[in-house]
Order: sequence, then structure tokens, then C-alpha cells
Amino acid sequence: MMEKTKIILDCDPGHDDAVAILMAGGHPAIDLQAITVVSGNQTLEKTAVNAMNVCQYLGLDIPVYAGCSEPMVRKKIIAGDIHGETGLDGPEFDPLTRTLEKEHAVTFLTRKLMESDGDITIVITGPMTNVGMAMRMEPRIIPKIKQIVFMGGAYTNGNITPAAEFNIAADAEAAYVVFNSGVPITMCGLDITRKVLCYPEIVERMERVGNKASRLFGDLMRFFCKTQKEVFGWEGGPLHDPTTIAYLIDPSVLTLKYVHGSVEIRSEESYGRTNCDIFDYMKKEPNMNVAVDIDVEKFWNLVETCIKCYQN
Ligand code: BDR
Ligand code: CA
Repeated sequence: MMEKTKIILDCDPGHDDAVAILMAGGHPAIDLQAITVVSGNQTLEKTAVNAMNVCQYLGLDIPVYAGCSEPMVRKKIIAGDIHGETGLDGPEFDPLTRTLEKEHAVTFLTRKLMESDGDITIVITGPMTNVGMAMRMEPRIIPKIKQIVFMGGAYTNGNITPAAEFNIAADAEAAYVVFNSGVPITMCGLDITRKVLCYPEIVERMERVGNKASRLFGDLMRFFCKTQKEVFGWEGGPLHDPTTIAYLIDPSVLTLKYVHGSVEIRSEESYGRTNCDIFDYMKKEPNMNVAVDIDVEKFWNLVETCIKCYQN
């Protein structure tokens, strides 16, 4: 039998984070061990509730740990213009019956990684505060992390400033800690996530599956695509975060380049810029895989496969 990829998903749901939970929780190749949440698309209180709502709705019995409510150094930013007042506007959920785990996400991450055999992949689809803090709190976790796959950054234009992407700009100091940790890293930046635009025909295709997961997908994407159109003028919203899970299910969905990558933390104008040396100008030792292309058709097929993994 194929060995499952053990992951912890560190996220800030968020519409596209919710689809990442759906995919990771459904697909048999992924063993989603826990969800840790962070302040990002909305405040920590809201992202925690959203993660639990998505799990409860999909019948996923996965522990959810709340982490950091503030970035390491800078003032907190949120993305209410894209994800709405709740951070997950659109779907209607039944009252929550499940609760958060008591342990802080940073304490959980350090404990879980220290206890592990070095076989856990950390997927980050929000600001990197929890993981950066865990690395500072207990540096011995660093060699225990199998790899980090994250959605964030861009070597082309950002989406919050010309220079920076939201997840990295929300806590660039945390990204600095993670980028310089020495853990094998794969970056799924805006450069590829902007190629997987969720057009109305994609929403209809996924809804045709006709189960709970497909309804959730439709309700999420209709709201998300509306705000994306208002803010960026696109017909379909880029399904950023699920690219990480798609890659872990089928690595051939992405084309990667092993390059030197760093994050700008000193500049005001370019704070949070991810400098990925795609053309090797700097002749520095590569430290991360950067996604430079995505097989769009394969990606949507993977999303559909994950939706179909749910029974009702
Ligand atoms: C990233 O920012 C958030 O709004 C999304 O959930 C995604 O993780 C895209 O820049
Ligand atoms: Ca996110």
C-alpha cells in the first residue's frame, strides 16, 4: 500500500485555505494529522472557528490548535476585503459542537515534531508566525521537519503591494526565520496560483459532483470569486492554497526550480518581497524549490478527485 504523506496544515481560513483542508482531509494519499491556525485572513478567533466549521461540516475528526494572534514584529493585517467579515463568508454552517484543542499551536508543533520520526511535512497556507515561533522556541524541531511546502510569496508582482504577497507581508520576520532554517522548502507563489483561476464553469463542474464537499466548494468559491473580481478585476479567483496539497498528492502538477530565495524585512516599500533568484544572478547556494509552472488541467482534476473522496 502507498504510504500516506503525514502533514500538519498551518492555515488561516480563508476560502482557499478551506479548500486546502477539504483536499487534505479527503484524499487517501494524505494523512492530515492536525490543523494549526494563525491570524491572517481574519483574526485568530475567526480563523479558528472557520477551521472547525469546515471540519465539522465535512465530518473530519481532525484536531484544531489555535496559535499566534499577532505577527512577530509588525502590526497585524487582515484580508477582510477578500474573505469577508467572518473570514469565510458565503457558506452557512450549523452551530459548532466541536471545540479547539487546549494546547497552543506553537507548543503543539514543538511537542509533535520532537516526538516524531522526522516524517512530518508542514504545509503553511497563512502567515508563518506559528512555525517561525516554534523554530525559535525549540530549534531542535528544525531537523525533525521533513519539508515545508507553503503558499506565499511571488517572484513576479505581489498582491498586497507591488513587491509582496499577503502571507509573507503579514509576517515577513517569521518567513525570514523559516527561509533561513535549512529545512527543505517548496514555495507555491502567486506566479503559479494566478494560473489556476476558478472560473464559473469550474465552480459548476465541481458542483456537479453533487455531494457535501462540492456544495461547500461552490458556496466558498461564489463569494471568493465575487471579491476577487471587485479587488483585482478577475472573473475567477486564484485558488492559491490548494496548490500545496495538489503538489503533495501529485508532485508532477508543478514545475519546480531549485534556487536561492530570501525575504526582504528591512525595506518599507518592499517589505515582505520574496527574492527568488530564478536566473542565479547572485551565485548563492540554492535553498528552496520555487514553483515556476503548474499543469492547470491536472490541478482541477486533482481538486475534483478530492471532492469525490467524500461520501455524501
Ligand atoms: C494568500 O493570502 C490569503 O488571502 C489566501 O488565503 C492565500 O493564502 C494569497 O495571497
Ligand atoms: Ca491562506
